[in-house]
Amino acid sequence: GSTVDAAARICAKAQGGQILASETVRGIVGAAKDLQFRDRGRFRLKGFPERWRLLEVAWQEEAQPAAAPVLAERTPYVGREEERAELRRLMEQAIAGRGSIVLIRGEPGVGKTRLAQELVLEARKHGMFDSTGRCYEMEGSPPYIPYIEMLQQSLRRGPAGFRIALGENAGEIAKILPELRQVFDDIPPPLELPPEQERLYLFNSIREFLERVSHTLPLLHVLDDLHWADDATLQLLQHIARHQDKMPVLTVATYRDIELDAARPFAQTLESLVRQRLAHRIALKPLPETGVEAMLRALTGQPPPPALVQAIYRETEGNPFFVEEVFQHLLEQGRLLDSEGRWRPDLQVGELDVPEGVRLVISRRLERVSEDCRTALTDAAVVGRDFGFQMLQALTELSADRLLDAIDEAERANLIVAADDVPPAEGDRALEARFRFAHELIRQTLISGLSLPRRQRLHLRVAETMEQVYGKGAEAYAADMAHHLYQAGAGADPATTARYLVLAGDQALHSAAFAEALKDYDAAFALQPSGDLASRAGLLYKRGLARRSLSSRWDEALPDWREAASLYERLGDKEAAGRVFDAMCQQLLWGLRYEEAAELGQRGLALLGGRDSTYRCRLLGWGGLTLSAAGYYSAGDGMIRRGLAMADRLGDVNLRGSALGAAAVHHWCYGQVRESADAGLKGGELLLQAGNLWDFASGSNFVATSLLALGRVDESVKVWSESSPLASRLGHRAASGVEFQVALLREGDIDAAEASGREALERLTNDEDDATTWVALAFLGFTHFWRGRWQDALAVFDEVTKVQPTGAPAGHGEAFTMLVRAYLGDRERVPGHLRHLRC
Ligand SMILES: Nc1ncnc2c1ncn2[C@@H]1O[C@H](COP(=O)(O)OP(=O)(O)OP(=O)(O)O)[C@@H](O)[C@H]1O
Ligand SMILES: [Mg+2]
Repeated sequence: GSTVDAAARICAKAQGGQILASETVRGIVGAAKDLQFRDRGRFRLKGFPERWRLLEVAWQEEAQPAAAPVLAERTPYVGREEERAELRRLMEQAIAGRGSIVLIRGEPGVGKTRLAQELVLEARKHGMFDSTGRCYEMEGSPPYIPYIEMLQQSLRRGPAGFRIALGENAGEIAKILPELRQVFDDIPPPLELPPEQERLYLFNSIREFLERVSHTLPLLHVLDDLHWADDATLQLLQHIARHQDKMPVLTVATYRDIELDAARPFAQTLESLVRQRLAHRIALKPLPETGVEAMLRALTGQPPPPALVQAIYRETEGNPFFVEEVFQHLLEQGRLLDSEGRWRPDLQVGELDVPEGVRLVISRRLERVSEDCRTALTDAAVVGRDFGFQMLQALTELSADRLLDAIDEAERANLIVAADDVPPAEGDRALEARFRFAHELIRQTLISGLSLPRRQRLHLRVAETMEQVYGKGAEAYAADMAHHLYQAGAGADPATTARYLVLAGDQALHSAAFAEALKDYDAAFALQPSGDLASRAGLLYKRGLARRSLSSRWDEALPDWREAASLYERLGDKEAAGRVFDAMCQQLLWGLRYEEAAELGQRGLALLGGRDSTYRCRLLGWGGLTLSAAGYYSAGDGMIRRGLAMADRLGDVNLRGSALGAAAVHHWCYGQVRESADAGLKGGELLLQAGNLWDFASGSNFVATSLLALGRVDESVKVWSESSPLASRLGHRAASGVEFQVALLREGDIDAAEASGREALERLTNDEDDATTWVALAFLGFTHFWRGRWQDALAVFDEVTKVQPTGAPAGHGEAFTMLVRAYLGDRERVPGHLRHLRC
């Protein structure tokens, strides 16, 4: 039965003269005095789902044969003293609470990953918690993949502690790791937020998670192969970076520095991290000749002949991966060592004929495995970064038995490794062994040997198999499915490919990975049948959502939305058109383009007709506020009142809350502070009741200022203290920067106001201006003013005049300037200011 099977498998793992035993055997033998067991680690045995711990029985104490120089164990680490010292220093700083990011760069195979792994070993000795996430070259890996991997690892290490660390952010984090909902049944649904805020809220959630994890144990987070990172991952990294100096978290990111295209988001991220002094850098060079010698010595346990060192150094230029590959190649050919495991005395340098490039070395290694093994590996290379047995079986023409042998062979040849850290995504795959290529270069070499038609056919088969295996569940893997179908080219049905691309885009949008969503929607666009107008309109609307959330180019959303709106108009779908107009109008208001917003609001209203409806009501509120902010008081006021009345008739709490919120901002714009406070307080209550936290936070700021102007200081502080922490949790920039205002009111803390103003200045210099920067700047000006630093105050208010928006908020900068000049007794210029402000 299975015992005999296991015995045979264990036997096959042993080398000549070696005795291997299972843990059971050790248990039975007990502590026999004359028998020693040495732990050889865990092994995968064919036909057994679990890995087995195997123990070597030491039976020949005297005259031990030289340890077989195989690469199954990795090469003992050599050199890199300086780099390790620097990393150690940063690690100690992180443990002391001052975390940072360190970027390790270098050519492929130079040892970036290994250096990070060595640091992980040290970190564990220091009691740090560690996790490693990788990025992949493959299209089709989900956004945030290295962070997802980090979360998965933490989950596996201790679900109970993990749940605590998730805290109240569980609902958000489950967006990028849906399997959490299967593990824990107490995860609330994520908050409903406008898409552009979803991302910030998600980011804050992950940051808070890291804070909680690192609160218990300092954390080492390795991000491997960052050059392949998706845009969302890069954004998240930058977001966390800004807070890292106050967290005991060291992030070590590795990347290949060849072929860095300066325009790519990755290059920009690097530049911005470095410019803001948020990251340290280590450039890893190839090993010197002495390093190659040390490696060869470590690999064989004996000093290598100098001629061999020179030859290998010359061919590999000190790249450790190449050294290992060339070494393994020569070894397998029996060129290096004699049967005793010693250097062959007849070793001739000329005889070595070290192959040219490493691709060649890998190809040679691949040539040495059996035909079956090579076929299986080539198929697997198309599947992707990791693959399971079931998928491979569906792909290859090999029988199950031959495939098992082929996989065994590939594992023995160190071409693939067990992918233990990739957890099965579904119950039915839990027992399935998964594998990963030992190095990405191996996978690339295999792929490059495939002809295009064959590659396309394989991609199609992968997609078909996924559909077979997962059934409807394949939609959960939409990104992967879309990738394979897309790569399959003409062989795949364009409509199906488009459907999966849209699904993948939706999933990306849902997890606030906007650049990825945009890429998917763009690809879908090219494939969608042109006659299907409703689908086209839907896609345009969604692509618009992705575009407007990419803050730097939000206005690219408008052409999409305009077209979507006219398509919906043509199709007679008023509800959908109303939704698009609502989105356009809000977005333009946020972007301070009141005229266009007002015009679109009008068009939307005209289209929706006179009947009461949700979108009509929203458009009245937004459109009214737009007019009001643009300076048309009565027109705006009228619309906002109609919106309020409609919300009352519709009896929808959320709509009423939002309409009152719009009214509060409208009155605030014109200094009608009593009306503003009344509407805002009532609206806030309703919005809280409806769970619309976002709109609640948006309004609070205005209500609090109005209350303050009314002299109701305690109430004002109360509103601010409640809404400010909420706003920063939501990533609501406009409302979250008010901590200092609260501090100022409560304790007269002018320093807090000054610090916040300086941050705003920095944002401006970094070109990250937003609609609220000018408010923080104004406060900075006032801190100067209160301290009697007139000239500094004037300079800052000058800046305020330049950046403040037009429309209702206009004039603040000049008014402040006039105030300072009045204090300075400038009789000449003040009257001029006043006249100008009046008109
Ligand atoms: N200092 C070293 N001592 C011994 N072995 C090393 C050393 N540096 C790297 N290696 C070995 O060389 C191989 C390549 O290293 P590694 O995978 O870290 O390269 P990399 O820079 O991450 O490459 P890539 O850009 O392709 O990911 C690994 O097998 C690693 O164990
Ligand atoms: Mg690497």
